[in-house]
Amino acid sequence: MTTAKTIGVLTSGGDCAGLNAVIRAVVARAVKGYGWRVFGIHQGTRGLLSRPVDAVQLDLDSAGAAMLRLAGTILGSTNRGDPFAYPLPDGGRQDRSQEVIEGIRLLGLDALIGIGGDGSLAILRRLAQQGGIPLVGIPKTIDNDVGGTESSVGFHTAVMVATEAIDRLQPTAASHDRVMILEVMGRDCGQIALAAGIAGGADVILVPEIPYSIDVVAAHISKLRHGTHNFAIVVVAEGVRNDSGAHVERRQAMGNVTYGGIGHVLGETIAQLTGAETRVTVLGHVQRGGQPTWDDRLIASAFGVQAVDLIAEGRYDRLVAWRNRRVLDVPLLAAFEPAQRMASDDTLLRTARGLDICLGDQTM
Ligand code: F6P
Repeated sequence: MTTAKTIGVLTSGGDCAGLNAVIRAVVARAVKGYGWRVFGIHQGTRGLLSRPVDAVQLDLDSAGAAMLRLAGTILGSTNRGDPFAYPLPDGGRQDRSQEVIEGIRLLGLDALIGIGGDGSLAILRRLAQQGGIPLVGIPKTIDNDVGGTESSVGFHTAVMVATEAIDRLQPTAASHDRVMILEVMGRDCGQIALAAGIAGGADVILVPEIPYSIDVVAAHISKLRHGTHNFAIVVVAEGVRNDSGAHVERRQAMGNVTYGGIGHVLGETIAQLTGAETRVTVLGHVQRGGQPTWDDRLIASAFGVQAVDLIAEGRYDRLVAWRNRRVLDVPLLAAFEPAQRMASDDTLLRTARGLDICLGDQTM
């Protein structure tokens, strides 16, 4: 057994299914495997800014196996409040990074496990370097855009939710001879759209990685409606641009900008170009909630165990990753490399084209 340690774990960025499964695996491995203490930090780095530090000791009762099934994160999370540019009430920004580092010292942590997407992991790495904090990262995001890993926690559940939405839209589309447009999340990454579109049998899939022509999309839908079936299913990622090349976005009350609305833009244009009746569903945050799928639970469990083992081995500044059905670790820097961009030989793109799914970039 290694020397007794106290470690911290936090969730940062947008939540997703499977975060509690990671926390449970961290606690199980650290407590049962090594006899360590684990503190769960509330609200990401925000908990480390509070005095006293907002954290709770986790044990096998509070973080037991029931957590595998539990959506959200028991620790809370935030995708606002970068401690290097912390928002002030007057609209200004303040560097509060030293307070966060001090919070880690106050908790007496020997190491920190950060569960986050690329943005959160970049902030945590900067804090770790500034404060000399031993850090291990665990990738999570429904967007699946963290570099260095094939899968991030939460992606599979989001794809499952989007696929189920297509399953529910298809019969009503067919009953009413309609074109149904489903807008899914993913920021600038089209992986949810592509995977769910194929799994759900979409006729058109539009992703930010592939520029599209609305005329190509309309021609494909018209061909379908005059041929094999009188309806169509279009899946579009929220980060797809409009015909002026701009994102369709919305400024929220707190000043941050979120994508959303390209589905409605497409719905109107497709109706004009094809004469079809269109309806639009924006799936939104339901993709982030709900029980994690078995594979998200599995990856989450493997990641949690691996992260604790890395700390036991004294190996820091690492990212746990999933590749070829194996858990491994890579330099944390790998998280910020472009994630699997859709190369022309991408398996799923080839599959979509092979199934005559229109990707908007060529006449089928
Ligand atoms: O990064 C995860 C994600 O769900 C994106 O797919 C989406 O664009 C964004 O977060 C939404 O952010 P918010 O929760 O702030 O609305």
